[in-house]
Amino acid sequence: MTVTAIDTDQLRKVYGEFAAVKGLTLQVSQGEVFGFLGPNGAGKTTFIKMLLGLVKPTSGRGWLLGAPLGDRAVLARVGFLPEHFRFQEWLTAGEFLQLHGELLGLEGKALKMRIDGLLDRVGLTPFRKKQLRTFSKGMLQRVGLAQALLNHPALVFLDEPTSGLDPVGRRLVREIIQELREEGTCVFLNSHLLSEIEITCDRVAFIKHGEVVRVLSLDSLADAHAQVTICATGLTEAILSDMARWGRDIHANGQEVTLFVEKDDAIPEITRYLVEQGVDIYSISRSRQSLEELFIETVGKDGGL
Ligand SMILES: Nc1ncnc2c1ncn2[C@@H]1O[C@H](COP(=O)(O)OP(=O)(O)O)[C@@H](O)[C@H]1O
Ligand SMILES: [Mg+2]
Repeated sequence: MTVTAIDTDQLRKVYGEFAAVKGLTLQVSQGEVFGFLGPNGAGKTTFIKMLLGLVKPTSGRGWLLGAPLGDRAVLARVGFLPEHFRFQEWLTAGEFLQLHGELLGLEGKALKMRIDGLLDRVGLTPFRKKQLRTFSKGMLQRVGLAQALLNHPALVFLDEPTSGLDPVGRRLVREIIQELREEGTCVFLNSHLLSEIEITCDRVAFIKHGEVVRVLSLDSLADAHAQVTICATGLTEAILSDMARWGRDIHANGQEVTLFVEKDDAIPEITRYLVEQGVDIYSISRSRQSLEELFIETVGKDGGL
């Protein structure tokens, strides 16, 4: 039986008069890498904190790995890299991971080997004996990521994991997420870095003012939002309206016509049709709508503020 990794039903958080999360219903499957996208203040962090039992929902219900929110046995199988972390800065990187491992019930040689492996994975082995107070934001984020993975979690929450990282660090996080996916771990990624989400995630939700406004799989983004631009002469009104068979949002501007097609198969079909109609084609190009364009279209240019 497959258990839904994250399942919420109308989860809501109100601070005073202000609803930070307004009845959020979402399902994320085991093994999925899921991107939670939204402008600053949309409610992304609040949503994660409710799932982890760090913020009490005002109303609604939720389950992690099949158990109601707050289940301690399940939380022991969950990893979390907070957005604004306050780590024990007087500890060294090694001591910090030792402490968090012990809090998770890990011990002895198994814990030591896990710490060795993770420090190596996040590139901090040379800094093992350095106090966290001497670390840069990016180094703290790396050690925080190691901390989030100590327990071989079945589900990991990463809240803006790359905000302090340089390009090398960002690539590292991407690779680690890829490895987690291969191991079947569910990764829930909060971010406003769209290009990163686009590379990493299977599915995304757009959140605005505490509500999910759209959920889509990135495969469908590749298929359903291909824009085709054709430069040609001899296009008549009748031909343009015939092209609606293969695509939508047809716009003609002089010798250039653009349209969105559902499937790539449409492109050779349109080409054949145009040639049969005696149209002279000078170029055809296909571009995919980027996640950034879709974000602006969905959330609005004001970022939803
Ligand atoms: N403890 C709190 N008290 C009052 N308002 C809060 C609190 N935490 C978050 N908020 C507000 O809730 C909204 C959502 O915040 P947050 O979940 O941090 O957004 P995001 O992570 O998407 O940037 C923001 O307007 C924020 O100011
Ligand atoms: Mg946040």
